[in-house]
Parts: sequence; C-alpha cells; structure tokens
Amino acid sequence: MYYPDEIVEEVRMKNDIVDVISGYVRLQKKGANHFGLCPFHNEKSPSFSVSGGKQMYYCFGCGAGGNVFTFIMEYENYSFPEAVKLLADRAGVNLPEVEYSEEMRKKESRKSRLLEINKEAAKYFYYQLRSDRGEKGYRYLAERGLSQETMKKFGLGFAGISSGDLVQYLRSKGYGDELIREAGVAVFDEKYGLHDKFWNRVMFPIQDINHRVIGFGGRVMGDGKPKYLNSPETMIFDKSRNLYGLNFARTSRQSYIILCEGYMDVIAMHQAGFIQAAASLGTAFTIGQANLVKRYAKEVLLAYDSDGAGTNAALRAIGILREAGLTGKVINMEPYKDPDEFVKNLGAEEFGKRIERAENSFFFELRMLERDYDLKDPESKTKFHREIARKLCGFSEEVERENYLEAVADKYRIGFENLRKLVASYAAQTGLASPVVRPKSGLAEKKNMPEENRKKAQRLLITWVTDEPGIYPKIAKYINAGDFTDELYRKVADKLFEGLSKGEFNPAALVSLFEDEEEQREVAALFNTKLEELETKKEREKALHDIIYTVKRNSYEYYSGRMGADMDALNKVIAGKKALEELSKTHISLDE
Ligand code: UTP
Ligand code: MN
Repeated sequence: MYYPDEIVEEVRMKNDIVDVISGYVRLQKKGANHFGLCPFHNEKSPSFSVSGGKQMYYCFGCGAGGNVFTFIMEYENYSFPEAVKLLADRAGVNLPEVEYSEEMRKKESRKSRLLEINKEAAKYFYYQLRSDRGEKGYRYLAERGLSQETMKKFGLGFAGISSGDLVQYLRSKGYGDELIREAGVAVFDEKYGLHDKFWNRVMFPIQDINHRVIGFGGRVMGDGKPKYLNSPETMIFDKSRNLYGLNFARTSRQSYIILCEGYMDVIAMHQAGFIQAAASLGTAFTIGQANLVKRYAKEVLLAYDSDGAGTNAALRAIGILREAGLTGKVINMEPYKDPDEFVKNLGAEEFGKRIERAENSFFFELRMLERDYDLKDPESKTKFHREIARKLCGFSEEVERENYLEAVADKYRIGFENLRKLVASYAAQTGLASPVVRPKSGLAEKKNMPEENRKKAQRLLITWVTDEPGIYPKIAKYINAGDFTDELYRKVADKLFEGLSKGEFNPAALVSLFEDEEEQREVAALFNTKLEELETKKEREKALHDIIYTVKRNSYEYYSGRMGADMDALNKVIAGKKALEELSKTHISLDE
C-alpha cells in the first residue's frame, strides 16, 4: 500500500462520507440512509444510497459502490493515492513521504514507468503531427473530415518516416532500452537493434477509462498493409479489458453505449455529437469488455460494419452482451459500410433516426438466421421454425419467453399455439429450467448451483452480518472465513470476522484494503446485497438458515473437490460435514 494503513484510515475517518458526497450529489435523508440520483449512471429516480453508519455508498441501479476513497476515484477519475491525497488535504491531514515495500515499489514503478513512456510517446507523436514533418498526416486526417478540435480531443499524432526517432527521444528522456521495448512502442531485432514500432503512420493513442495512454493504433495513410498496426499487449495494455473511447463515453450520461468496430468510427461518432460511442481494440468483443460497459450503461447499440464480417462479429457480440446481462440492439447502417461513412454521407440527424430504429438483437439474429432457409420450401421452413423454437428456449424467464414467443409468432406468421408447442417439446428434450419456487432467502434451488448463486449466498451473509453484527456470535460456530470460496470475499470475511470477534466493527475501512476501483466496488456490493423483505421473524430465521447452509455446503463441495491438491482440504471437509449435519438439525434464533 502506498501510504501506511493507519494514515489511510485516519484520512477516511476525518472525511464523513455524507459530507463529502453532498458536495457532488444532492442527497436526501430517508430512514437511516441518504439517497440521491446516481452520478455514475443515468437515472430519474434515486437509487444511489449513502450510509452514514457504514460510511459507504452503493447504487442499487448500477452497482457502483465503495467508501469515500472509491467515490473520489470514480467521480474524479483518480488513482487510490490521488484520492487519499485529495481527502487528506480536505481534512488537513499531513501525509508522510510515500512508503513502499521493495517488491511493490518495483512492480508499481515498472507499471508507472510504462505509463510514462506511453504518455511521452503520445506527446511526441502529437507534436510531430502539428509540425512540418507531420504535414502529410495532418492532411490525411483533415481529408477524412476530422476537425482540429476532434484531433485534439483524441490526441491524434504522427509517427515520422525514419524509424529511430522515438527511441532516440525516449533515451534522451532517460528511459532504458529494456523499458522502452516493454512499453510496446519499439521492437528489437538483431540487424537493426532497438527501433520504433510505428513509422510513417497517423497515430491513435488508446486510453484507459482514466484517460491514461496504454497503447497505440497506427494507420497507414493510404492502402498499405497492415492498415492498422497496434501496440502489443503489455503489463498496462490488456486488449480484452479496455475499449477505445470509453474514457469519454462513460461520462455521456446516456443509458446506452454505441459499440463500433473501428477507431475512426468512434472518432467520427464523437465529432457528430454521439459521445457515447466506443470500440474494441482490433480484437473481438469480450466478456471483460461487456462487464466494463455494464458499469456505465444498461444497453449496447451495435454499430458494426454492414458487411458479412461485421454481421458475424455483431452476432458474436450479441451472445456476449446477453451473457453479461446487457440489452443489445443493432443499428442498421445500410447503404453505408460503417458509422464513419454513414455520418459523412447522411449526417448526424439521420444517424439519430437509425438509433431510434435500432433492431432488437433477438430479431436481428432471427433475420440473419432466416437467410439460411428457403421459406418457400415447406421442409426448409419447418426447419427454420424449429430453430426459432430452439432459440426461444434460451430465455429462462417465463414472462420474457412468452413475450418473445408472441412477437415472433406474429412477425413470422406462425400459429402462436403451434410455436408454443414446439418450444415446449424442445424444452422437454433439452431440459429448460421450469420456474423454481424460490426459498425465503432469495437464493435459487440447490442442484447445479451456478457460480453467481454461490457468490450471492456469500454476499447475502456478509451483508446480513454487517447490518446486524449481533448475529455474529451465533453464526461463528458454523462459518469461518475459509468458507468464502472467492479470494476477495475470503479476504473481506477474514478481516470482518476478525474485527467482530474483537468487538470492533468497521466495514468502510475494509474497502481501503483494496486499491483497485473494481475491487472496491465488489467489496461494497458485499456489504449491500439486497435481502428479501421478510415480514415475520420466522421467515427471517428460515432465510438466515438457508443462507448459512448454502454457504457451508458450497464450501464443503469446494474443498471436497480439492482433496489431494490441498493438504488442508481434508480437515475442512470433515469439519464441514459435521457443521452441515449439525446445521440441518439446528434452529438459529434471531432473539437477542
Ligand atoms: P476496419 O478495417 O473496419 O477499419 O477495421 P476502419 O476502422 O473502418 O478504419 P478506416 O476507416 O479504414 O481508417 C476496424 C478496426 O479493426 C482493427 C482496428 O482497431 C480498426 O479500427 N484493425 C483493422 C486492426 O487492428 N488492424 C488492421 O489491419 C485492420
Ligand atoms: Mn472506416
């Protein structure tokens, strides 16, 4: 950790979270908490809550959450040490000179050195573009319709003809060859030694959501190959977890993101006023990117190329969006190839209409599927209908499935009852989950518990103990930190239980154990998982029992699977079995 834990904790305690957040968001007190409109996603009714008691915030709409440091990091785009510094200044706490463990310093400093090099390179390219030597690049971009302002916003640059310029420049700034190569901006070979990776190209710096340059895409000015050359993956550049333009798009306060295929598409979209556009980085859209998007938007509008490759990429992206729980729609770009060409030819207003008319992703899939069948041939048509039925089985929620069934039957003029029978017969074959009766805890039934459900039980338990620390002694008999099978959860449970057994209770301090915004958000979710509203004490006792049992059984199964690999697993399994047997006979009372 950058600053000593005690100082971080002192800074946190001297900055009341309700005070701090009130400086950014209008809050209203409701019961024990304060509520307001979430600054991290677009909403009309307040689901953003701030708890003075827990000294944490949490948005029930988008899942943003954490302690006072997390808030500053998210709102101001600050790193953890920067947030600590801002709040220390606010409360008049003097920060010591930074302290580091040797290993941390090496790793952190390597990372920050790589970031520095990329930033230096971006500056270098930026000035090149605006100098005489960059005239060719400037003309190329201007001819593609980019304004000076747009070029500036995206930090566009130019890599000159000779291939040693950047390396030389970076050496002159004191960076060693090894680091320059590791930053991804230069390559080494026997013949030429270390030389620039990019030359004679217009340069697109790629930024993470905090506006830090983590890599580059460089385009040839004309028809050469490859069209775009990209930085390799490095310690700071993970192509599956970043999106081009998201640093801007995330502040657009729209409920959706426009996902494009190319850098130029994003830039053209932004120039046309669609600042909610982003793109993947020369690779296919990934689940990591979907999860990132999910922090800022509920819906994704795909603006992929209208050719065959673009259509296939869109179909794959739709699957990933669905997996991440995001709604997907597809924007029709016809008769143009991509968003860049579309706005250049038809303008922003027309594009706006296309947004409004974006097609539901399921209907898009069916329309693409339809092309493989000859609907004039009864046999082929039947196969098509079967395929539709099979796809409808993918909706596990009954209401949603029925709604789609109705819409599809209508659209493809299939008898509603016939289609429903077809779906039912498929469901019977492939075992579509019939609606389960949910136990009081809000957890789904036991068999084949999906990962998410296991984790939910663990979150529910942590939230419950946080809200009612008094139950800790009652559950401590059955549950220990080792029962939390996710590493982050285990770390939190360990500290939380340690505190509780000493009679200290301080969830917000636990958040600062993690420096990463994403982790802090996960910790906040741990403390804020919504419990079902249960009326009677009996229901609540039953729910608590369910949750404890589920957590314990999951832990038991987890360690059973690890026997042989882990010396300690056998002991955990034996103890787990005993606890489960005891639990199944025991009533846990919520009386004081
Ligand atoms: P496109 O070929 O659709 O290019 O590639 P584009 O974005 O429309 O670019 P312009 O308008 O011709 O300049 C889409 C994206 O695929 C990646 C890049 O990220 C590009 O933006 N790509 C493409 C590469 O990484 N390398 C390539 O050689 C081509
Ligand atoms: Mn293009």
